[in-house]
Amino acid sequence: MALVTTTEMFKKAYEGGYAIGAFNINNMEIVQGITEAAHELNSPVILQASKGARAYANSVYLVKLVEGALALYPDLPVALHLDHGPDFETCKDCIDNGFTSVMIDASSKPFEENIEITRKVVEYAHAHGVVVEAELGTLAGIEDEVKVSAEDSSYTNPDDVEEFVGKTGVDSLAIAIGTSHGAYKFKPGTKPQLRFDILDEVVKRLPGFPIVLHGASSVPQEYVKIINEHGGALKDAIGVPEDQLREAARSAVCKINIDSDLRLGMTAGVRTVFSENPAAFDPREYLKVGRKNVKDIVAHKIKDVLGSEGAAL
Ligand code: G3H
Ligand code: 13P
Ligand code: ZN
Repeated sequence: MALVTTTEMFKKAYEGGYAIGAFNINNMEIVQGITEAAHELNSPVILQASKGARAYANSVYLVKLVEGALALYPDLPVALHLDHGPDFETCKDCIDNGFTSVMIDASSKPFEENIEITRKVVEYAHAHGVVVEAELGTLAGIEDEVKVSAEDSSYTNPDDVEEFVGKTGVDSLAIAIGTSHGAYKFKPGTKPQLRFDILDEVVKRLPGFPIVLHGASSVPQEYVKIINEHGGALKDAIGVPEDQLREAARSAVCKINIDSDLRLGMTAGVRTVFSENPAAFDPREYLKVGRKNVKDIVAHKIKDVLGSEGAAL
């Protein structure tokens, strides 16, 4: 099977009460860990590359790595998505070079400007058979070089969503309901709670429309512990409780973005090998342990959080 768009995936996910995992890719081992898990569990999957990932690995390598996974698992539904596209040119480059889905993230711009840029990307993407995700509201945390403080973040206003989707023709919408990027999502001692009331209001205004959740890593404490026990310094790293993500996946949330958890898994694996065997210097020896953690984390998400196991059959 060639790469697919997310249209069919989201339709089935919405109807089936589950979500598709969108996992960030940066190198071969991460692509392998994610797709091995998705293949074994027959789950559709979205592989997404940020601007930073494309600069780090070179977009050509990323596309070819994904094609490699497809050659190995021809029956696996895989979409290749641009994560947080900063401008029309970056989206166009991805559309012209094999991506089947792009995000234009103009969420930091004024509402009218966000509409304008998003509409331009949608026009080009749809003419080339590619789907588009956009965002309303601002998440706290770090994306590429941009750091948004908690004070500057803002929840999505449900009163904006109908006009935005109507005027842009976008295929899915990322909303801000309390998640944030990175490993430090909530203050220690506070109770993490997503704003399901905002999600419900959005769904009332956009019935049947696929919603996307960014910043949805749960920051598994077992991996934080391994990292800290092997020379790391991740203090007070806290993520989104998995039961809340499961609840979101049952509703209109069709795409759940996970990057930080994979970083933690990879780092825990590499750190363990280095600290237990300081003489190790074969990259295969430490990267394979990181890759196994990535695979285990993705398998757990598919089975216990997203609910997408078997959906590829
Ligand atoms: O939303 C941000 C993603 O985790 C990608 O992070 O821009 O450092 O690749 P990155
Ligand atoms: P996390 O940092 O929570 O993994 O979020 C990733 C993300 O939203 C990618 O767009
Ligand atoms: Zn994001």
